[in-house]
Amino acid sequence: MNLEQLKRQAQKEASLINDVSELEKWRVRYLGRKSSLSLFFDSLTKLPLSEKKRQGKEANKLRQTLQELYKNKKDEIENKLSATAAINFLDITQPGVKQSEGHLHPLTLVTREIVTAFEKMGFAIVEGPEIESEYYNFDALNIPADHPAREMWDTLWLRNSHKIPNPKSQISSSRLLLRTHTSPMQVRYMETHQPPFRIIVPGRCFRYEATDASHEIQFHQIEGLMVGENISLANFKAIIEEVVKDIFKQQVLVRFRPSYFPFVAPGVEVDIKLKQDTRHKKQDTNEWLEIMGAGMVHPDLFKRVGYEANRWQGFAFGLGVERIAMIKYQINDIRLFFSSDIRFLEQF
Ligand code: DAH
Repeated sequence: MNLEQLKRQAQKEASLINDVSELEKWRVRYLGRKSSLSLFFDSLTKLPLSEKKRQGKEANKLRQTLQELYKNKKDEIENKLSATAAINFLDITQPGVKQSEGHLHPLTLVTREIVTAFEKMGFAIVEGPEIESEYYNFDALNIPADHPAREMWDTLWLRNSHKIPNPKSQISSSRLLLRTHTSPMQVRYMETHQPPFRIIVPGRCFRYEATDASHEIQFHQIEGLMVGENISLANFKAIIEEVVKDIFKQQVLVRFRPSYFPFVAPGVEVDIKLKQDTRHKKQDTNEWLEIMGAGMVHPDLFKRVGYEANRWQGFAFGLGVERIAMIKYQINDIRLFFSSDIRFLEQF
């Protein structure tokens, strides 16, 4: 029996093993009761004492080596097994990770409601540029540079803005600004469309203003314009009554107050009164709330866009989206809309 040869063979076979049952077979083969090593030990009894000692010592050494090899191999295989088990382990009882759901901004919600209400009344939706020319924002709306009404619109002018020639304007060029209202779209639309039509223009506006609870440098308006042969303020009132009823989901009183805007004549301010005040704090006061400016389109505008004289009339209005949202949701500070404060936004 060559122990050295036995050792090399056992080591070689062990190195190829990578599962438990193979390893167990190996163990039986090299360390089991019927292994050559065991038989070798048995055979020692027949030898003289000195020989027995010498060969017994060597055989013991080999057994120790093989036992160590077995143990190491076993650890190696088990470690590998538990590592893959950890990767593949799926605890189906573990609570899931809750995916927080996003939602629309309150201003988007209210804009959509208002737009839908007008769509039901047959209005088409158009949009205009946020960067506007001085001509469309002011001059075309009867607000020339020296007109005191310009002070009603604190304006953010664009620095170094190229003066753009405007063929429609008496003034030869026009500076650029961030539109202070959506009214410029009245003229832009009429320049390219013939009556009868009814449109609304939702959009963002900008004012050069100190901010406080009711003023922001950016806010949203929905402009409206309806032109036809016999359109009157009575038509306007009927439409607005329907629309606010739709938005506030209740009967709403509507009243007009005389007002002044250079591009309408006459001009009015529209107030509403909710039957049930949605605002907790002022439950019983039930006061009138201003929601928009409006009026009959000034004949100057029709003339400016080249409409046939004395044939058309119509109304226009500009409604504040933040204002409606504040009434509807009892919000007391306009700055909350753009604060990105999650505690505010999560309430919608
Ligand atoms: N553009 C006006 C503003 O921002 C609001 C307004 C008033 C719009 C009367 C209109 C209107 O169309 O007829 O203050």
